[in-house]
Amino acid sequence: MRLRTRVLLLPLFAATSFAQTYTVDGELKLPPDYRQWVFLSSGIGMDYSKEPSAHPIFDNVFVNPPAYAEFLKTGAWPDKTMLVKENRVSSDDPLSNGGKVQTSVVSREIHIKDASHGGWLFYGYRADSQSAKPVAKQEVCTGCHSKNGATETTFVQYYPTLVEVAKQHNNFRETSAPEK
Ligand code: HEC
Repeated sequence: MRLRTRVLLLPLFAATSFAQTYTVDGELKLPPDYRQWVFLSSGIGMDYSKEPSAHPIFDNVFVNPPAYAEFLKTGAWPDKTMLVKENRVSSDDPLSNGGKVQTSVVSREIHIKDASHGGWLFYGYRADSQSAKPVAKQEVCTGCHSKNGATETTFVQYYPTLVEVAKQHNNFRETSAPEK
């Protein structure tokens, strides 16, 4: 009887803790510990503007550990996958010849797969926001991501530890470089 209660409570607990990722008015909370998640990649100057910037923005992409573990097993993103992209100002390193380092956060973005919200959605955060509504014009983001992302609407081709895994599971689309 005791064992049975425990088995019944577990899924209930899991559901409750995921529900807490949204505020009462439906905004997605910025996970406070995402810096302890699995690091996937950094990009620099990925703003697709015509002019190169003297201070290009760095981005760092992190994924929640259970989704990463599942991807390693199946080559696909499970429901409740959260990918956080943290955008930081770059600064010149005076000691090196043209080297750049990362400084303060300018914004963050989240790409989340949540069946209870209809699948993949994008959220945008100012540097100081702790929660956000979905990006108003999802099509701006989805247009590039679904056309150019190698796996579903994500850029697995730029996440070196996942490229081979996705290919082994036939979940990798060869795509051209993102269009401007
Ligand atoms: C012109 C193409 C393009 C557009 C438009 C675009 N992205 Fe991306 N996005 C990328 C590329 C390339 C990456 C790969 C990672 C990187 O930038 O280092 C990426 C990665 C991401 C990631 C990390 C997870 C993933 O999906 O791979 C998030 C989150 C993200 N973008 C959010 C957004 C949001 C929000 C918008 C719309 C406001 C947007 N993107 C519009 C090209 C694009």
